[in-house]
Amino acid sequence: MLLLANLEKRHATAARPLFSGLALTVAAGEIVALVGESGVGKSTLLNCIAGLENADSGSIRIGPQAVDIAKLDESARAALRARNIGFVFQAFHVLPTLTVAQNIAVPLLLCGVPAKEHGRRTRALLERVGLSGFGPRWPASLSGGELQRVAIARALIHQPALILADEPTGNLDPRTAHEILALLLERVREQDVSALVVTHSQQVASCCDRILTLTPDGLS
Ligand SMILES: Nc1ncnc2c1ncn2[C@@H]1O[C@H](COP(=O)(O)OP(=O)(O)OP(=O)(O)O)[C@@H](O)[C@H]1O
Ligand SMILES: [Mg+2]
Repeated sequence: MLLLANLEKRHATAARPLFSGLALTVAAGEIVALVGESGVGKSTLLNCIAGLENADSGSIRIGPQAVDIAKLDESARAALRARNIGFVFQAFHVLPTLTVAQNIAVPLLLCGVPAKEHGRRTRALLERVGLSGFGPRWPASLSGGELQRVAIARALIHQPALILADEPTGNLDPRTAHEILALLLERVREQDVSALVVTHSQQVASCCDRILTLTPDGLS
């Protein structure tokens, strides 16, 4: 479902690559925790996998067809991302001018799901993340933890094959964090999707199938 080979990323101003020679396989139905010190490149790696940043070399193959995103142009990459990836950003990226329900429905719009389906699917997912009735509210009126749950609902609503989550429980109290992780795990198991979850929490990492540590020397 996700296959990385010989991946390298170097920022223009940096003396050495952030990472190089990275290899990783995440199977369908598998959830992998990615840990590592702050600044080591975890968010950058997720962004590269999602095609939001370009890697300098190597291949990133995603989805049942194992398409190499590096070989796609920008619009094909965006289409692949819209269909196959659910991304929970470290900083939420909830759009302030859309209601909670409209934010969660954005992936459905991008995937061309008929508008009449949006309300039902959005309400069902809001209920699953403990935010029933929040649909008409504006993001500015939500707490950090509530916004985090909106971001998670948005990443799941189009039933992507690959879930990339950057600190998905970083702003949640331990009980809510546990519930959200359980929801992610349930999706992965039920729908045979893959997930890569960046976390600083040992508790979250220990619930995953495997824990990988990113260091300047690579993934281990
Ligand atoms: N455009 C850029 N130019 C130069 N350096 C950058 C750029 N973007 C990110 N970096 C640097 O790359 C490094 C990796 O950043 P990244 O956000 O991937 O780390 P991280 O492992 O996710 O850290 P954290 O756990 O704090 O979220 C950091 O040192 C950051 O300052
Ligand atoms: Mg980060």
